[in-house]
Amino acid sequence: MSHVDLQGKSAVVTGASSGIGRAIAEQLAASGAFVVVSGRDATAVTDVVDRITAAGGRATGLVVDLRDPSTVQSLVDAAVNATGRLDIFVNNAGVSYLGTILDADVDQWRNMLETNVLALLAGTKAAVVAMREGGHPGHIVNISSVAALDPNSGVYGATKHAVNVISNTLRQELVNDPIKITSVMPGLVATNIGRNVDPAILAGLVAMSGIDVPVVPGERLPDEVLVSAQAALSEIMIRPEDIAEAVLFAVGQPVSVDVTDIVVRPVKPANL
Ligand SMILES: NC(=O)c1ccc[n+]([C@@H]2O[C@H](COP(=O)([O-])OP(=O)(O)OC[C@H]3O[C@@H](n4cnc5c(N)ncnc54)[C@H](OP(=O)(O)O)[C@@H]3O)[C@@H](O)[C@H]2O)c1
Repeated sequence: MSHVDLQGKSAVVTGASSGIGRAIAEQLAASGAFVVVSGRDATAVTDVVDRITAAGGRATGLVVDLRDPSTVQSLVDAAVNATGRLDIFVNNAGVSYLGTILDADVDQWRNMLETNVLALLAGTKAAVVAMREGGHPGHIVNISSVAALDPNSGVYGATKHAVNVISNTLRQELVNDPIKITSVMPGLVATNIGRNVDPAILAGLVAMSGIDVPVVPGERLPDEVLVSAQAALSEIMIRPEDIAEAVLFAVGQPVSVDVTDIVVRPVKPANL
């Protein structure tokens, strides 16, 4: 059990089938919250729910593709139907395609804009409606990136700049509501966010892990590869759990304390 007590509260985490979202979902559940876990990969969603349940937590899983913004309502409804309330909504789902603007294609831009920005907007709006109806203090956590602090961070960075602008604007719009907005900006974290990068870079990561697995562009690497690679490269890459700790810190504050922005990065930072 963590030091933060979320007994009686309920949370939604988007993109909880992998990486940072999975770690956030597990730590929220370990702190006592009922958690709605969501992602596109049904097997991975079920696996996370099983992990939470096996650890003594409470969770349910929903398979959604957030590029259809109407799907976010089902996540909010799942939390409210199970517990009668929604306290925490974590907009974490995200995709990244690196590379130059001139060489990129429109499907990659669409995927990033729809997942990283539009779904976050839709999720936030649906969450605020449910939080207002519930009448309890609420907290929306947006997973941004240190790319939002870099003016030359490409289309992915532009989506994260958008996340920060949206977070700041929402904080103004919600100034008379007991609903907090926190923007968490991770540096490089060992996850599958790199599944769409140059396979040669991923092959280097796999080599650092010392585990021999094939690199298939667009597909996840096994957990043990990411864990071993992070341990070997810990100065430049942190763990998903390190970001989850920051989220717990923000949501665990007293009602009167608003943690607006958190940067969590490795000691030798590289942007992603
Ligand atoms: N890792 C880093 O270095 C880093 C740094 C800064 C910020 N971030 C941010 O952290 C967040 C989490 O990324 P991660 O690093 O944990 O990567 P990840 O392991 O690839 O996880 C991304 C999650 O988003 C979900 N997702 C992607 N597209 C979706 C869609 N259309 N509908 C529903 N779910 C979708 C994925 O679910 P499925 O696979 O099941 O579809 C997965 O659960 C992202 O917003 C990312 O931009 C990451």
